[in-house]
Amino acid sequence: MSREKILRIGALVSGGGTNLQKIIDAIDEGQISHAEVVTVVSNKPEAYALERAELRGIEAICLQPKLFEERSAYDEALVKHFKERQVDLIVMAGFLVVVGQGLVEAFPNQIMNIHPSLIPAFCGDGYYGIRVHQAVLQHGVKVTGATVHFVDVGTDTGPIILQKAVEVRDDDTAEVLQQRVMEEAEWEIYPRAIGLFAQGKLRVEGRNVRRI
Ligand code: GAR
Repeated sequence: MSREKILRIGALVSGGGTNLQKIIDAIDEGQISHAEVVTVVSNKPEAYALERAELRGIEAICLQPKLFEERSAYDEALVKHFKERQVDLIVMAGFLVVVGQGLVEAFPNQIMNIHPSLIPAFCGDGYYGIRVHQAVLQHGVKVTGATVHFVDVGTDTGPIILQKAVEVRDDDTAEVLQQRVMEEAEWEIYPRAIGLFAQGKLRVEGRNVRRI
């Protein structure tokens, strides 16, 4: 990506949208340069993330999988939506739907996801949102964290871009731990990963993402 080009970002969301907010703030504050969020898509009409986008004057729409006859038709609709808007990078920011092959193939190494654990621990099918932190506490690990990765056809299996560790404390509840992981890891590494992408500083070699 040349430095003059503005990276056009599309976001996929399902919930509160704190990660989306941090990305938008990082762009406004210049931490991510040469980038703008051009569209935000939620699978849930009530997602507060949609309001956050509207408040910033960003297009915010809801596309619900259940309104499509087949899952592949939903993926096609997402591809069409993002292609029409000439999106260069899709960021999944708390999007709790597994994206299908159609979308992944249309945007190879151009979809990022944030996951609230140190992949490959506590990830894959069934591990999302608060459930991840409940599993971490149940297992008794002392360190958890967050991971930003490119999205491939598996669940949480794509090449890892950045990770950050977070301490687990004896008196943690899942909610307390979730908040600490967001504050200490997610809100820091997601804007940083997007900034590196926008500057053309990431190169994917097989499973490895190199900083160039
Ligand atoms: C975040 O903790 C994110 O890591 C997680 O959902 C939360 C969304 O919060 N994503 C997953 O679990 C994906 N497997 P947000 O809507 O406030 O950004």
